Amino acid sequence: MRDRWSSRTIFLFAAIGSAVGLGNVWRFPYLTYKFGGGAFLIPYLIALFLIGIPMLILEFALGQKIQRGAVESFKKINRKLKGIGTAAIITGFIVVIYYAVVMAWSLVFFVNSFNLKLPWADDSKSYFYNNVLGVTSSVSEIGGINWTILIALFFVWLGIYFSVRKGVKSVGKVVAITMPLPIILLIILFIRGITLPGSWSGVLYYLKPDFSTLLSSDIWIAAISQIFFTLSLAFGIMIAYASFNKKDQDVVSDSYITAITNSAISLFAGFVVFSVVGYMAFSTGSSIDKVVAAGPGLAFVVFPKALSMMPLSWFFSILFFLTLLSLGIDSAFSLVEAVNTSITDVRNKRREEVAFWVCLIAFVFGIIFTTGAGIYFLDIVDHFATNYGLVLVGIFEAVAVGWIYGASNLRSFINSTRKTKLGSWWDISVKFIIPLALIFLIAAQFILDIKNPYGKYPGWALGIGWVVALVPLLIVLNGLFNRS
Ligand code: PHE
Repeated sequence: MRDRWSSRTIFLFAAIGSAVGLGNVWRFPYLTYKFGGGAFLIPYLIALFLIGIPMLILEFALGQKIQRGAVESFKKINRKLKGIGTAAIITGFIVVIYYAVVMAWSLVFFVNSFNLKLPWADDSKSYFYNNVLGVTSSVSEIGGINWTILIALFFVWLGIYFSVRKGVKSVGKVVAITMPLPIILLIILFIRGITLPGSWSGVLYYLKPDFSTLLSSDIWIAAISQIFFTLSLAFGIMIAYASFNKKDQDVVSDSYITAITNSAISLFAGFVVFSVVGYMAFSTGSSIDKVVAAGPGLAFVVFPKALSMMPLSWFFSILFFLTLLSLGIDSAFSLVEAVNTSITDVRNKRREEVAFWVCLIAFVFGIIFTTGAGIYFLDIVDHFATNYGLVLVGIFEAVAVGWIYGASNLRSFINSTRKTKLGSWWDISVKFIIPLALIFLIAAQFILDIKNPYGKYPGWALGIGWVVALVPLLIVLNGLFNRS
């Protein structure tokens, strides 16, 4: 008998826990601000309803129908398509290797928050880059292993291991805490943020719409890739998670609940981030443009600085880094669970054993990201894995289900799970809109990368990135043309 989630609610907690992660807090608010404030919500919502939700329905339906993880699910469609599942979980495995490292940074900050005067109060930028990371001057200078981060990384992996050790049985217990906790913490931070002087001007900056941005293609590219990343699509996660559902669970409602909760949390996180950023601009007398940042810069430089300026700074700092840790952990272990499910589907091995080895190997590979050049490698691998690997897998998934398995075929299964029928618009989305939008995305990104090599890194370093980008393609092609 296949393992089952203890209830539908727990399944939803797990799916939402995977979707809600660092992307909601450090990517979404920044993108919104950068691409025309409230106006960004237009392409974002269009991408959500035309691409994100249909794709989520696809992944949930596939896993639930076939009752297997990504690899076996695609193999069931056609032996030659097995590579799509393999490509998905390998890209996911690469992502979790560095995702765990970002969590290790959060853990270092968390521990250092237990200080009446926060150690980064004077110069948060130098604190992050020099004290925490010990960053070298360029990617060519590897520097040594940073032992503090390595130890933190070890604890992060210990946490992941204990979460996935018993598959959905243990995951189900952990998500009952890690899904609601960051939401509660965000609400507390919101109340704190919004009552600080200057906060509303930050929020105004965040949402003030500038509709002229809608005319550029960048905004559409950003919206589509954010939707993919934030819903944890194309890593085999949602397929694996849904494979532990009973076959008659309502796939469409599950998808809407997961996707809408996730986007609501993103929007809400933007209020938290921008109220605090607004406060910081107000207190330092600078403009919001000067203080806002994306990615690691936001969570580990700007925010810590702002926290250090608040009353009870240590307390809110502890809360903030606990938020990041609890946001990240269920995204991280969902990636690991996708890999483990695909392995235990075919190997008669104990779950604990598989989990142990997967975690250990990911930890060991993660060491490269704990060196002085770690953040450069992380930046490169992230760029190529999310802009190419993920998108390629998405294209393959949509084409395989839409054209080979047959979208209407899967839709009949979906409709057997509910009363209100999913209309044929879904077929159109899976067969045409998703593949075309993703091909557009990848082509536009490719042109950009050829014109301006990413981040001005040297050729050999970008070469590593291109390998990461092409691995899924090679795996899929190998499956297609392999005679066996
Ligand atoms: N959805 C997560 C986030 O927004 C990121 C993630 C992507 C997690 C893919 C797992 C897999 O942070």
